[in-house]
Amino acid sequence: MAKSILITGASSGIGKALAFELAGKGYSLALASREIDLLSQIRDDILEESGPPAVAIRQLDVTDYEDVYKAVNELADEVDGLDIVFANAGVGLGERVGRGDFEKARRTIEVNLLGAIATVDAAAAYFLKKGKGHIVGTSSVAAFRGMPKSSAYSASKAGFAIYLESVRAELYKKNIDVTVLYPGYIDTPLNEMLKSRPFLISVEKGAEIIARLIEKRVKSSTVPVYPWNIVGRLMKILPTGVIAKM
Ligand SMILES: NC(=O)c1ccc[n+]([C@@H]2O[C@H](COP(=O)([O-])OP(=O)(O)OC[C@H]3O[C@@H](n4cnc5c(N)ncnc54)[C@H](OP(=O)(O)O)[C@@H]3O)[C@@H](O)[C@H]2O)c1
Repeated sequence: MAKSILITGASSGIGKALAFELAGKGYSLALASREIDLLSQIRDDILEESGPPAVAIRQLDVTDYEDVYKAVNELADEVDGLDIVFANAGVGLGERVGRGDFEKARRTIEVNLLGAIATVDAAAAYFLKKGKGHIVGTSSVAAFRGMPKSSAYSASKAGFAIYLESVRAELYKKNIDVTVLYPGYIDTPLNEMLKSRPFLISVEKGAEIIARLIEKRVKSSTVPVYPWNIVGRLMKILPTGVIAKM
């Protein structure tokens, strides 16, 4: 049976590509981000390309925490119920420590951690009422090891991954699955300024892999699975001197 998914951060990168990927599989889509004009264009393009059952769009800043709860319920009504909520919105600001970048660090935590937690909390409230559901969240391989020049980013992604693990345990036997994704480098505006992007994959490939992992309802996975499942383990034990050069 065709499913429905709410994707935050659907105006660009992974969220946008996943919207196209799942539209092609017949999913109803609820797309949210701050840039409503971009979402409107994406909706038009999707409807022209594959005509899924429904595409709803809504302006949402995930740091407007109260509005996150309203958005989940409004979008659920618009697409006749949600099966999956994907907390994907995020920023990568390249903050440095001790260089006057505290505002970047704060913004990173507000969007990537608090905004994502609000999204998951709103989704859990909705799914608990419904009696079933699937929550998916985007962490990062940067959660495996604190990376230089993105300390708050690493912290936000590690924090969100652990939060999702707690949610999975708390919702055990409530018929609500929780999937944590740990992408490596996927070619999007978030990281295009970086000098080095090891094992880079296209955003279309990333979306295809993510769609497959969501449909399998995996508990957690790197994206792509290989080589990051192995590199991720290595990252945890590399000496600080090696990490410092990254
Ligand atoms: N690309 C990678 O290699 C990679 C690796 C690991 C993890 N990730 C994670 O994957 C997620 C998607 O990133 P991406 O690579 O697709 O980056 P992207 O192309 O920059 O997209 C980020 C999305 O997040 C939205 N967003 C940012 N701030 C928001 C806010 N306050 N409220 C609502 N939406 C907001 C943006 O939409 P608006 O500007 O319209 O609001 C945009 O749609 C992020 O959580 C990122 O940390 C990416």
